[in-house]
Amino acid sequence: MPADIIINAKNVVKTYDMGAVKVHALNGVDFELKKGEFVSIMGPSGSGKTTLLDVLSVLLRPTSGEVFINKKPISKMDDNELAKIRGKTIGFVFQTFNLINRLSAKENVMMPLWFQGVPKSDRENRAEKILFDVGLADRINHKPSELSGGQRQRVAVARALAVDPEIIVADEPTGNLDSVSGEQIMQLIKDLHKNGKTILMVTHEEELAQNAGRIVRLRDGKIVATDVVKKKEINVY
Ligand SMILES: Nc1ncnc2c1ncn2[C@@H]1O[C@H](COP(=O)(O)OP(=O)(O)O)[C@@H](O)[C@H]1O
Ligand SMILES: [Mg+2]
Repeated sequence: MPADIIINAKNVVKTYDMGAVKVHALNGVDFELKKGEFVSIMGPSGSGKTTLLDVLSVLLRPTSGEVFINKKPISKMDDNELAKIRGKTIGFVFQTFNLINRLSAKENVMMPLWFQGVPKSDRENRAEKILFDVGLADRINHKPSELSGGQRQRVAVARALAVDPEIIVADEPTGNLDSVSGEQIMQLIKDLHKNGKTILMVTHEEELAQNAGRIVRLRDGKIVATDVVKKKEINVY
């Protein structure tokens, strides 16, 4: 395996067992994510995008097949080790923000640092700095209900960045936003990539997917195409 591969999935199958019914969400997926890459995952609703993200980010174990994180097979790790990897290596951004409503923006961003055992004053400094970086310096004490959708998603991005993870995983991060806020969040994600973060993003908007270097297309739990995105000329005015 080349040295710079962070996540590698081999013949991943995920079947949800609903008693009488079995749902075949992933039907043999091979996937590699290299350090510094930006990959979009596209596909119709129900094609397995979220399941694939969850398996790749070790939230879910596959029914069969193997996922390697930094070359280590997850089948050999217990749930504690997987939780540790999630906490340190991967930052999550969700379509529905998933912030804690009774906590301020700053406290939400401090939360993953608390799980990592970072002392309080360091947590506070780090949270304030990241909220400043995402353009929310004047909103650090606001609760999610006191913020716009775009601002909430900024807080969620800041929270994902708190532990300085290797990878940012985003599941339809602009899906609940108006087009202007969506563009701002997309710009933020592009900037993170420019600054060296590895990005894995699910979207069902082709235009957003084109921001990645590679687009993986899913259908019925299988990868049906992988497109390398040609970079447009950048006009400097
Ligand atoms: N927790 C679950 N239990 C049972 N079935 C599920 C679960 N999550 C997803 N599914 C089913 O698996 C398939 C893939 O779902 P999902 O990965 O959410 O697709 P997408 O994100 O592309 O819409 C769908 O048929 C969905 O109904
Ligand atoms: Mg989904």
